Amino acid sequence: MTQLTITRPDDWHLHLRDGAALKAVVADTARQFARAIIMPNLRPPVTTTEQALAYRARIEAALREHEGLPAFTPLMTLYLTDNTTADEIVRAHESGQVYAVKLYPAGATTNSDAGVTDLLGKCTAALEALQRCGMPLLVHGEVTDPRIDVFDREAVFVERVMQPLRRAFPELKVVFEHITTKDGAEYVRDAEGPIAATITPQHLLYNRNAIFQGGVRPHWYCLPILKRETHRQALVEAATSGSPRFFLGTDSAPHARGLKEHACGCAGCYTALHAMELYATVFERAGCLDRLEGFASLHGPDFYGLPRNTDTLTLRRETFTIPDEVPYGDATLVPLAAGESLEWRVVHY
Ligand code: NCD
Ligand code: ZN
Repeated sequence: MTQLTITRPDDWHLHLRDGAALKAVVADTARQFARAIIMPNLRPPVTTTEQALAYRARIEAALREHEGLPAFTPLMTLYLTDNTTADEIVRAHESGQVYAVKLYPAGATTNSDAGVTDLLGKCTAALEALQRCGMPLLVHGEVTDPRIDVFDREAVFVERVMQPLRRAFPELKVVFEHITTKDGAEYVRDAEGPIAATITPQHLLYNRNAIFQGGVRPHWYCLPILKRETHRQALVEAATSGSPRFFLGTDSAPHARGLKEHACGCAGCYTALHAMELYATVFERAGCLDRLEGFASLHGPDFYGLPRNTDTLTLRRETFTIPDEVPYGDATLVPLAAGESLEWRVVHY
């Protein structure tokens, strides 16, 4: 096979940032994806419908600064806090532009200090409203208890938070974002009710050795952190299984090079630049290129209850090398897999 044409994909987990950073990265996504779920962890976070609509307008303006892009629709989200009201959820849903609400446990990751401190204690009104509207709750699934080892935080989250949450709200649509473990994948595969998971390119391509190969490699540091090889294999199995519960979410999370290569480097990998090529590499290595379309283009809209895209994206077999860095306002960004060669390339008409 030398060419692969699939329904145009969507990215169900994306950080676009704001201002000059937004302008620098938005086209990389819009060249490949028709839609993306836009994460709300700006500073300050996007906690109201009004803020989400204003952010959406800034994204539209940034898109207009690039010529020749295919049509791209940002799907906005709200950042859940201890104080999010049921009314705010209803307003978000009725706006027709907000498609989900994101749960960050307070302190779990980049810009999460306004996050939730006690989900079932403080957020029940918001969760009930979400369940009623049929709007998904997107979950950063890591406990923040400092006594729990950083490599175990996802598995412990399943027991301590995910299971009680889903017992209390069995009809709530939940997306377990960027799963990184066998435990997460098996939970999503086997659980009852409306649950799905997104999987990133970095967690499918690398295990935790990548962070320490010959020295500390900050461009492989993201949250949840890369895990051991058995977990990576379980994620590849889930992504390529054909199960509609698993779909694409790049978690592309740009941070300027200087803030990654730093004494306290930021968490996040810039995966948007060659996202579809990275995923195609994973699916080809697993001998399942025929399942890429389901994962990238069909399972996501089906779970969200949105129409599938009607146009297509084509990849061609062609060796190319990922650049060492790309411009990012006044700074630069190091993309995931910088300097590595891939065998599939998106065709841009
Ligand atoms: C994300 C970011 O930088 O916004 N970082 C990351 O490592 N994934 C936040 C997140 O999604 O956890
Ligand atoms: Zn993220």
